[in-house]
Amino acid sequence: MSAVVKAAPVTRAGAVVDLGAIERNCARLAAELEAATALCSVVKADGYGHGAVESARAALAGGARSLAVAAAIEAVELRAALPDARILVLGALTAAELDQALAADADIPVWRPSFLELVRARGEALGRRPRVHVKYDTGMGRLGERDPAVVRSLVDEADTQEQIELSGLWTHFATADEPDSGFFDQQLARFLELALPLRERIGALTLHAANSAATLREPGAHLDMVRCGIAIYGLDPFGQSPFAHRLEPALELHSYLADVKRLGAGESVGYGCSWRAAEATWIGVLPIGYGDGVRRALGNTAEILIGGRRRPLVGTVSMDNVTVDLGPDPDVEAGAAAVLIGAQEGERVLAEELAQRLETINYEITCAISPRVPREYLR
Ligand SMILES: Cc1ncc(COP(=O)(O)O)c(C=O)c1O
Repeated sequence: MSAVVKAAPVTRAGAVVDLGAIERNCARLAAELEAATALCSVVKADGYGHGAVESARAALAGGARSLAVAAAIEAVELRAALPDARILVLGALTAAELDQALAADADIPVWRPSFLELVRARGEALGRRPRVHVKYDTGMGRLGERDPAVVRSLVDEADTQEQIELSGLWTHFATADEPDSGFFDQQLARFLELALPLRERIGALTLHAANSAATLREPGAHLDMVRCGIAIYGLDPFGQSPFAHRLEPALELHSYLADVKRLGAGESVGYGCSWRAAEATWIGVLPIGYGDGVRRALGNTAEILIGGRRRPLVGTVSMDNVTVDLGPDPDVEAGAAAVLIGAQEGERVLAEELAQRLETINYEITCAISPRVPREYLR
């Protein structure tokens, strides 16, 4: 067969993000909640690789009432595009980042008395009344205060300080994605024991704990707000099929057959000659590699959709290229569309499948798609 490029694609590699899917996933999650419980959409890490601003807009259209990010610069990016959105920062802030977050009118996480004092002072200096969310570490062992007595006194301190608005009290689960986790139940019980009496006493205090997995598995963890990330993108927080939870994957990762060539029996492809043709075959070359976020560990393990069929990725993943085995009698030609994540003619590769092959989680698969890959948005 000839290696003629029939219809040149627009880009060597690209991600297509269906914003309608994000909107519908948010509506589906919001429908799970009591009317008094708000959906906060987590759009950190550039919306888990989907694009922060576009994902945030779609999430708000789908019923999310607020947004969450990890870093001050992410809050700044969102604020520039969404002047009226409520934005919560989840991560640790340096003094300089605190100023950025306050200038972006974001809600601020606190768990140390000294940081609460800094928030008060910087708010005063910047002419703002910071909204704070006190973080209780109920077992994650990361950010947050572990001692319930200190959490109570922080809440009281923030509540009585005129220059500060006490907005929330929150925690984060370590094992919500493990269906029978007793540790999840312990964390929830610990949080409720401290948080419910405080809300009873204080009144307007938003309690929040649930990520996507907790939202889907335990209505008792919904409280006043849930913070959903992975599920809004149509990815399964339990690492299985998103369709089992009526979630629609929003992102597809595409490339194309840039070249097709014949290899004789025993000949190799790629760095390290890690794959050799057992018999004469045709090799397809796709201009996408680990520089685009296709992990090198997928060499000789993944399958890529071309011509509506799964084709084995053979050889080592390079920075800019991967190779597939098209077999001795290929039914596709150079120029054919290739799908690394997504569907083609009824066949589908999920981000969850790639995660399982790599012994990682779907979060890492979409977050890894690099800025070199242009995102195209379907509205
Ligand atoms: C504090 C916090 N809340 C909520 C989320 C959202 O979690 P998920 O993407 O599993 O819904 C994250 C994500 O890592 C997080 O760090």
